[in-house]
Amino acid sequence: MRIAVLASGRGSNLQALIEAVENRYIPAEIGIVVSDKPGAQALQRAVEHGIETAVFNAGDYSDRKTFDEAVVGFLKEKNIDLICLAGFMRILSSEFVRAFPNRIVNIHPSLLPAFPGLNAQQQALDYGVKYSGCTVHFVDEGMDTGPIIGQRVVPIIENDTVETLSARILEQEHQLYPLAVRQVVMGNVLIIGRKVVIQEGGNFWCRQRKERW
Ligand code: GRF
Repeated sequence: MRIAVLASGRGSNLQALIEAVENRYIPAEIGIVVSDKPGAQALQRAVEHGIETAVFNAGDYSDRKTFDEAVVGFLKEKNIDLICLAGFMRILSSEFVRAFPNRIVNIHPSLLPAFPGLNAQQQALDYGVKYSGCTVHFVDEGMDTGPIIGQRVVPIIENDTVETLSARILEQEHQLYPLAVRQVVMGNVLIIGRKVVIQEGGNFWCRQRKERW
């Protein structure tokens, strides 16, 4: 199985995935790291681990459609089976999502469906919730609305700032993302409607693959 990681920035979740692949916790290969930002730290991390990188600069494309077509074509050429979004700061078009049905996952720093979109940690603090966390989910055509694979809860403590809360959530992200991707790669994840069932030895990957292709 070949994974593509799409990242725009720091790439700490990419790092967690790289380490999980390197120690075979995730039995797959990261075939490519794609960024829309030429200077992204994520690219540097990939290079340090001998992973191929590619940059798609939005400015080089006339609109979202042509940008997404270029990225989709590239990922197909690279025989990518699974796409992991890791701080990729672009919304994927419906065409992009449909090109990889149930084959795109994302990590989001809140307990979805609460606080989708940008600045999820700030949204949680502003709302005054007592618990937030992170979510790994399949990407569908909505904004952070796809079926949920896993979540981790992080309590909000007195005097939390967006920095302190983000740091505690990030710690959980680095554990949750490899765990969820491992389950998907192992074929243990079955999507029924918008519910995800995880079953060891489920062989769902092959079953879903047969149904779809
Ligand atoms: C993380 O908080 C992730 O949940 C969100 O974007 C951030 C990316 O951080 N989608 P990093 O680039 O992986 O360090």
